[in-house]
Amino acid sequence: MAKLIFENSGEEKILDDQSPLQESCEEAGVPFACTEGVCGTCVIEVVEGMENLSDFTPEEKDFLGEQDRERLACQCQIKGGCVKIKY
Ligand code: FES
Repeated sequence: MAKLIFENSGEEKILDDQSPLQESCEEAGVPFACTEGVCGTCVIEVVEGMENLSDFTPEEKDFLGEQDRERLACQCQIKGGCVKIKY
């Protein structure tokens, strides 16, 4: 099991390992548009636990470049453990 924490609200969601973040983030109020990693609407900041997210997709690398704070919530999965994000 994995845990996703929203720093904005303190809300926590328990997810299965390898779950996409999109549904939980949508429920928490993160805006989405293309859901294909192109528009950048769903960008989130990873406060803790970047190592517990799936590898950057090519779309994320194109949009976000070389950095280790932000992800596109439509593109990544939680591998397990705990991840804290804000948006
Ligand atoms: S919704 Fe467009 S990049 Fe995620």
